Amino acid sequence: TVLVVDFGAQYAQLIARRVREARVYSEIVPSTTPVAELLARKPRAIILSGGPASVYAPDAPGIDPALFEAGVPIFGMCYGFQLMAQALGGRVDNTGAREYGRTALSVSAPDSTLFHGTASEQQVWMSHGDACSAAPEGFTVTAATGTVPVAAFEDDTRRLYGVQYHPEVVHSTYGQQVLEHFLYEGAGITPSWTTGSIVAEQVAAIKAQVGNRRAICALSGGVDSAVAAALVNRAIGDQLTCVYVDHGLMRKGETEQVEKDFVAATGVRLRVVDAADRFLAALAGVADPEQKRKIIGREFIRVFEQEQAELLAEAGAAGDDVAFLVQGTLYPDVVESGGGTGTANIKSHHNVGGLPEDLAFELVEPLRTLFKDEVRMVGRELGLPEEIVHRQPFPGPGLAIRIVGEVTRERLDVLREADAIVREELTAAGLDREIWQCPVVLLADVRSVGVQGDGRTYGHPVVLRPVSSEDAMTADWSRLPYDLLATISTRITNEIAEINRVTLDVTSKPPGTIEWE
Ligand code: XMP
Repeated sequence: TVLVVDFGAQYAQLIARRVREARVYSEIVPSTTPVAELLARKPRAIILSGGPASVYAPDAPGIDPALFEAGVPIFGMCYGFQLMAQALGGRVDNTGAREYGRTALSVSAPDSTLFHGTASEQQVWMSHGDACSAAPEGFTVTAATGTVPVAAFEDDTRRLYGVQYHPEVVHSTYGQQVLEHFLYEGAGITPSWTTGSIVAEQVAAIKAQVGNRRAICALSGGVDSAVAAALVNRAIGDQLTCVYVDHGLMRKGETEQVEKDFVAATGVRLRVVDAADRFLAALAGVADPEQKRKIIGREFIRVFEQEQAELLAEAGAAGDDVAFLVQGTLYPDVVESGGGTGTANIKSHHNVGGLPEDLAFELVEPLRTLFKDEVRMVGRELGLPEEIVHRQPFPGPGLAIRIVGEVTRERLDVLREADAIVREELTAAGLDREIWQCPVVLLADVRSVGVQGDGRTYGHPVVLRPVSSEDAMTADWSRLPYDLLATISTRITNEIAEINRVTLDVTSKPPGTIEWE
């Protein structure tokens, strides 16, 4: 394991991902972790991340200098670099001169461990106020910039390395190479962390945890629960039962995809609960978005609990024990929820389908150490089809929150057809990966006059909401080609009698959210 010590501001997650891209397993630990605890985990190397603080700020997170005496290879980046310089007797000046963004780095030691084989002038990404003006004793200065005389240093004997910039961001041209030089040569690690090894490791861990008892998993149709279920199925087979609640608010072909493709790829034992009538009855007459969400959440829990009770009865009759609930919790959720390490709780992850917390189960969370892109890789390794592995996000409450107004079966049918056309055309245009998602919203209470053939129409508009985003926290509206928009518009108005107008949402987030409700 390579430990990434987190000094804040989200840099650590990116570093951990880059280390894993170098096929070396990495984990993030808070900067408050005592040195003894860090060393007890026997890390092959330690990386000190960047962070927002100045090493001169009174409450700046520090580092115990004992860490540098432990013989573990260490790489300091940005703030981590300055801490290292300061702790080992170099000089860090609070110059007030800030360097931010793309910067030219001049490498002065082309044979150094970090920089060999890279260009003598290279672009790096800087973001700092303080600057190192003198390297600690025993260190060789390996690079500088126009304003910073010591922008990188290394002491090969003690296996200590540092750079002032952020090698983990893509704007640092040789960033990944420099990181790999540290891992492979500086720390002498042989890369061995592959998707195959993740699967083997997790399968063994799940077997050990579950033993010969039983587990259940709520499938949402999304990537995370699908991959989690497939992994657990690989480990314990028939001891796992997946429950998929069809609330009738899914898109065209979605339930069938879970029923056929997912089962075909995994052989999982699946119970599909057709609960459409129940959800529609509960939603009758409701137009308020929050009301809709609450009703759907509540009904979901009721249905799941019923299924759970049946399974328990079945298992009880067989003398077995259903003791485990499988969840697709990802590593960013764990890190952001504090990871059980006492750091601030930024965001508590929400469970698949919002399952209640008082379920009497132990959790199986085989994706807890993985990032989203790794989950997709594992899914592929397990033989899941691309349509599941690369599925775009879709909200739990489904099409209900894309009908502005009351949800009825007829309105759902209309929206489902329009949504299918949009997805088909986006796929045909090869834009699935470029676009984060494209909700289609039915303005069910709005009507407008149109003309078709020789007749007057009085139909409903739909809104196309194509967005691009990294994480759904912010988003921009996607500039779809006009010709594609024209094709979509023509097809929707020709093929769906109830819709006579297609409009485009050109609002970013903020101020608009991605979904309309
Ligand atoms: P908003 O509308 O908040 O959406 O900008 C951000 C992202 O979250 C998805 N979304 C949901 N996903 N349950 C989910 O699992 C929900 O209740 C829910 N509401 C919104 C939305 O599709 C977008 O990707």
